[in-house]
Amino acid sequence: MKDFIRFLEESPVCFYTVRALCKRFEAAGFSALSLYEDWQIEAGGKYYLTVGDSACFAFVLPEDLSQIKAPVYRMIGAHTDQPCLRVKPTPDMRQNGYYKLNIEVYGGPIYATWMDRPLSLAGRVVLKSEDVFNPQVCYVDLKKPVLVIPNLAIHMNHEVNKGVALDPQTDLLPIGGFASGEDGSLLMEALCAELQVQAEDILDFDLFTYTTEPPCLAGFKEEFLSAPHLDDLVMVHTAAAALLEAKPQTGVDIFCGFDHEEVGSRSRMGAGSDTLHIVLEKISKALGRTHLTEDLLQSFLISGDVAHATHPNHPERHDPVLTTKLGGGPVIKIAAAQSYVTQSEDYVVYEQICKKAGVPVQKFTNRSNARGGSTIGPIIAGRIPCRIVDMGIPILAMHSARELMAVKDYDLTKQSFITFYNE
Ligand code: CO
Repeated sequence: MKDFIRFLEESPVCFYTVRALCKRFEAAGFSALSLYEDWQIEAGGKYYLTVGDSACFAFVLPEDLSQIKAPVYRMIGAHTDQPCLRVKPTPDMRQNGYYKLNIEVYGGPIYATWMDRPLSLAGRVVLKSEDVFNPQVCYVDLKKPVLVIPNLAIHMNHEVNKGVALDPQTDLLPIGGFASGEDGSLLMEALCAELQVQAEDILDFDLFTYTTEPPCLAGFKEEFLSAPHLDDLVMVHTAAAALLEAKPQTGVDIFCGFDHEEVGSRSRMGAGSDTLHIVLEKISKALGRTHLTEDLLQSFLISGDVAHATHPNHPERHDPVLTTKLGGGPVIKIAAAQSYVTQSEDYVVYEQICKKAGVPVQKFTNRSNARGGSTIGPIIAGRIPCRIVDMGIPILAMHSARELMAVKDYDLTKQSFITFYNE
């Protein structure tokens, strides 16, 4: 848990999340691989690779490769991105003496939770280089609270407590200071100072907002963790931490961290690309295995994405029978529409793994008159014909700038993952 809280603090945005993962894999003796090279891998070996700075894969091979049998690839996948606000190109705006940033919404945040909070920016800045195809890339985290999105006072909007519609193009523009003069960009000044470069060297950037208040334990007995980005960094961290302790006997244990889940997964770092297939193909080739399709058909993926706990103030929004509790253990997600992969013969596998690990397990379905969300599970199911279960740690306030989970569910879920990897 301590390392998870540290991991959250090291991960303001997906690029840093992947960096924080790599640091942990490296420290545990994993060797780096590149998607662009042929792989030499050995029995008992541990490896990791990144894709486009925001996706990350890692795997561990059994000591005796002749023992490999179905399911050959035992994967746990989660996503590295989270809902937030993304800075647009040329974002400087001036209005009524204030300097503001033009932003667009990334994913589906609860807008109101971003108001009046100190915000910072983190991401990637792309610098000029000699090779036009390969600009220089730097990471940047301003760390300080440089932005705030102020609410409209209740005196200007007496109806605010009856619910208020927020328009991203007007209501969500953060202020970052006073506008002095006509030109100049406070953002560019900050980036240049941070990176020690000239403004003309900066070609463009991928910058995202994050809240600067650190994660904290909450509750009279500190049963809860209140933190940003629990969706889906808690699944990323439990899966990666389980892989660090895994001792595979008969399968190849794999961790997958995908970007862009919150916006549909369609990118080369996302689950909607062929990237996972390419990774599996390269492992198969390096192991000298000749029947990739058959191996894939008999592989198993746990799609780990946080689940909804039944809200204590709004049980009427949830299924009347299948209630889910914080602290009640991992949740298997089931939907007739296949918005969660729903094959009973597959999800009972995870249920039995939990049983073996001594971990309680819960089941979630949407209320029959509600649509609910989706995950990387069905997206991968459309590309790789393996067996899949959709599951996740229960949380409250999903997609709020701060979400809530039970401390207890971290260890329960990690234990179920270790049992899966070692089975
Ligand atoms: Co998610």
